[in-house]
Amino acid sequence: MKAIIIYGSTTGNTETMSETVKEALEDNGIETVIQNVTDVSVNDLKGEYDFILLGCPAYGDEEVELQEDFDEFYENMDGLDLKGKKFAVFAPGDSSYEHFCGSVDLLEEKLKELGGDIVEDGLKVDGDPDDSETEIVQWIAGLAKSV
Ligand SMILES: Cc1cc2nc3c(=O)[nH]c(=O)nc-3n(C[C@H](O)[C@H](O)[C@H](O)COP(=O)(O)O)c2cc1C
Repeated sequence: MKAIIIYGSTTGNTETMSETVKEALEDNGIETVIQNVTDVSVNDLKGEYDFILLGCPAYGDEEVELQEDFDEFYENMDGLDLKGKKFAVFAPGDSSYEHFCGSVDLLEEKLKELGGDIVEDGLKVDGDPDDSETEIVQWIAGLAKSV
C-alpha cells in the first residue's frame, strides 16, 4: 500500500496538517509521500498510488471556494475515471464561516462523481491543526483499517 497526500495551503495550516497525517499513516505501516498541489498533475490520481489523500482548506465566504492552488487541479479532474482508487479528504477550517471546511464536501462530491471510493468521511478540524493531533491520529487509525 502506497499513499500520496496532495495538499494546497496558503497560510501553512494544511501543510502542517499534512505532515501529521503522513506521520500517522506511516505509524500504521502505510508508505506515504507528500506533494504540494502545485507540483502534481491530475494524472497522479491515476498512477502508482493505491490511496490518495487530498488536503484543501476553504477560502470562500457565501460560496465555498477551494484554496487557490487547488482550482486548476479541481477543474482538470473532470473526465477522469477514478474507479478502483481509494480516497480521503481533510482540511483545517474555521467554524465561524457558514460552510465549515466546505472544500472537503466539494472535493468528495467530485471524487464520487468520477467513480472514486471515499474510504471514510473527510476530516474537518477547527482552528490550528496542531491542537487536533489526537483527532487526526484517530482518523488515520480508522482509515488504515479500511484501505
Ligand atoms: C477569506 C477567507 C475565507 C475563508 N473561508 C472559510 C470557509 O468558508 N470555511 C472554513 O471552514 N474556513 C474558511 N477560512 C479559514 C481557512 O480555511 C483556515 O484558516 C485554514 O486553516 C487555512 O488553511 P491554510 O493555512 O493551509 O491556507 C477562510 C479564511 C479566509 C482568510
